[in-house]
Amino acid sequence: MQIPSIKRVRNLKNKTVLLRVDCNVPLLRGKILDDTRIRASLPTIQYLTEKGAKVVVLAHLGRPNGKVVRKLRLDPVIKRYKTLLKKDIQKIYSGNFRFSKRKLRAIHTYIQKMKAGGVVFFDNIRFSPDEKNNTGLLAETLASFGDIFVLDGFAVAHRASASVSGIPLFLKSYAGVLLQQEIRELSTLLTKPSQPFVTILGGAKAETKIPIIACLLPKAKHILIGGGVANTYFSACGYKIGDSIISKVVKKEAKLYGKKQKVITPIDVIVGTKNGSHYRIVDVKKTPHTICKKGEAIYDIGPQTVLLYARYIKQAKTLLWNGAMGYIEQEPYTMGTDAIARLFGSRSKGRARGIIGGGETIASMEYVGMTDMVDYVSTGGGAMLEFLSDKTLPGISAIIQSAHKK
Ligand code: 3PG
Repeated sequence: MQIPSIKRVRNLKNKTVLLRVDCNVPLLRGKILDDTRIRASLPTIQYLTEKGAKVVVLAHLGRPNGKVVRKLRLDPVIKRYKTLLKKDIQKIYSGNFRFSKRKLRAIHTYIQKMKAGGVVFFDNIRFSPDEKNNTGLLAETLASFGDIFVLDGFAVAHRASASVSGIPLFLKSYAGVLLQQEIRELSTLLTKPSQPFVTILGGAKAETKIPIIACLLPKAKHILIGGGVANTYFSACGYKIGDSIISKVVKKEAKLYGKKQKVITPIDVIVGTKNGSHYRIVDVKKTPHTICKKGEAIYDIGPQTVLLYARYIKQAKTLLWNGAMGYIEQEPYTMGTDAIARLFGSRSKGRARGIIGGGETIASMEYVGMTDMVDYVSTGGGAMLEFLSDKTLPGISAIIQSAHKK
């Protein structure tokens, strides 16, 4: 996929660059719990400031749904940027983006007077009631603040919002360093993965993983499934699985894909109570049977499944993982996911190229202390899933189209 890079622009000196990043980080009482996404956006900001651009940043935090929500102000994030970039960074606006004429003039004047290499932020763009609906008016107003637009927030590229896919209709637009890197890494999986390519898919929402199975099936040597994806397959085949999480809407597809030779399903599972007070291993036989009754659910893959999946992981040259194998919020149901994380980490950086993405997957890799052993950690949650399902991401297509137009 060819996307115009910001590095293509010859002279950035004193140009005002409107930059959309994704710094949607987890916060607890105003404290940032993990600043990975902030750090991932630094190379583009550094590149722009070193070239003498004036950088005006747009970003979101959480889902304030068009209202100004105090807890979702960008201040803690801006503070972290200040520390990491060692720069004085001002927030130039903190309302709902329905600017009065006076305010609009004031912002334009402020930006005009900015020094080359300066960085400023608007507050959370999702405070705007017009961001999600992508009203042309908001996009056009935002576009008036810059000379060019750069999209670097891969994690938000699947949202057709004003600040993502709206602005490129009005401004010459480019991809930032991170967006390009994400496209490069993930495209390799879709086009020329080194074989054997082994994909591991889990997580609660089977409906987000089924399209990936459909898309990767011709490319992957094996797809190992766990979590809600496996549960949905079992349920569709007629196994009784008590209160286990399933996605009814994709039962038909789960059965269809689960029966493919390349798709490997659990041969044993951990069944128990939600609070983990009682649990046991249940073998999964070929002919459908009762795995557990109401009051119990499947909460993890079992030890024989870990051994089976290890055999595939140990042969892989390319590895992709998204989604926990079980209910990792509760001990002892973390065991299967932790084991997969260790196997994945051990095989990555060397014998296989290992790529992970998704909050739970990244957290599990962190938990076993092996994140550094993984080749690439995608910043995209939903965006990564949609990219790997071969869907068109509105942010990416807007940038490509903007290049064709001008
Ligand atoms: C994310 O956290 O995946 C991105 O920031 C997008 O957030 P959203 O799902 O609220 O659009």
